[in-house]
Amino acid sequence: MREILLPLPGRDQSYRICLSPGLRLDLGQILDSLGLPRRLFVVSDRRVARLHGAPVLQALARDGYAPDLLTVSPGERAKTWAVVQRLARELLARGAHRGSALLALGGGVVGDLSGFLASIFMRGVAFIQVPTTLLAMVDAAIGGKTAINLPPGKNLLGTFHQPRLVAVDPQFLRTLPAAERLNGLAEVLKAGFIRAPDLLPRLALGRSRLFRDEGELTEIIHRAAAIKAEIVAADEREGDRRRFLNFGHTLGHGLEQASNFRLPHGRAVALGMAAALRLSEKLAGLPPEEARWGRGLIKDFGFTRNLPDLDPGAVMAAVSLDKKRREDGLVFVLLRRLGEAVIQENVPPTLAAAALA
Ligand SMILES: NC(=O)c1ccc[n+]([C@@H]2O[C@H](COP(=O)([O-])OP(=O)(O)OC[C@H]3O[C@@H](n4cnc5c(N)ncnc54)[C@H](O)[C@@H]3O)[C@@H](O)[C@H]2O)c1
Repeated sequence: MREILLPLPGRDQSYRICLSPGLRLDLGQILDSLGLPRRLFVVSDRRVARLHGAPVLQALARDGYAPDLLTVSPGERAKTWAVVQRLARELLARGAHRGSALLALGGGVVGDLSGFLASIFMRGVAFIQVPTTLLAMVDAAIGGKTAINLPPGKNLLGTFHQPRLVAVDPQFLRTLPAAERLNGLAEVLKAGFIRAPDLLPRLALGRSRLFRDEGELTEIIHRAAAIKAEIVAADEREGDRRRFLNFGHTLGHGLEQASNFRLPHGRAVALGMAAALRLSEKLAGLPPEEARWGRGLIKDFGFTRNLPDLDPGAVMAAVSLDKKRREDGLVFVLLRRLGEAVIQENVPPTLAAAALA
């Protein structure tokens, strides 16, 4: 089993990301070894629960746990205050108390939602992440950010609540649809672009067989998760290094919004990264051949195929609106070299729009 250790902020302790094919069937033993509560509530979405719930619950029961299962609808619409309240009431009805633990079995939605609930239920209970999408394995489940949405926008209510354990089993990905795999791959590519240039040619070579080669997939997830872990460990709240994780996201968010969310997040980020590579060449000294190679890689993965018609003006309007809420001018994460990210302030919107075109 592979392990990545992460410090618990403000405490002289750490928590771990455990990674191994088949791990979902040994969860009880790992929870035991960490002294985690036996009163366990598993939160999942109905699709994941149908595909993967039974074996996980049975394995936990075999190891002496009596887990309760709570489910929500699949997809972003579950990240609401109404669902948090409904789950909290269900927890109370089933006898959950301060010494209970919540285990998120699902993608980033289930992780964000149940992490938020775990952070406020009885002023905070132990939380365990068992991510089932690639995006959650390499990104959402790591770093302790939790959130729900409000009608005006995504992730507007949230907390920091670190999990006591992140247990990653790449075998969950056997059932993950192609579009969701691509979403996660955008974040893996991002990890390579900002921190691990050696990962990029490896991804390029293994593109067609990545999800059939369990060893390689495990290694790639390990590398990408370790990069996210290293960055958040160095910088738990939104400081400079954590901002590197926004590579491709400035324009990506604008693209998502301008497409009315028809463009999936991963594809939007990938297109944002392609534009950021162009900008990096202009503003941060990224060698043109590296920028071109990086953009080719994004294209080869299929991120640019069958794009909806998008008005660059609308994208830039969404970007400016998004940014004005937080800071003046456009701030981009750019690359000085592949694997070396920098923060670039005051990027002229006209240049950003040109990069997008
Ligand atoms: N907290 C963070 O730091 C952080 C970081 C990035 C993203 N996020 C959040 O993560 C969310 C997106 O996460 P996501 O992309 O994992 O989406 P998701 O959780 O909605 O999962 C995508 C779809 O895949 C299905 N699914 C999940 N695992 C499956 C499996 N193994 N087999 C088959 N189907 C499966 C789900 O039912 C869902 O329909 C967003 O809400 C985003 O805001 C949070």
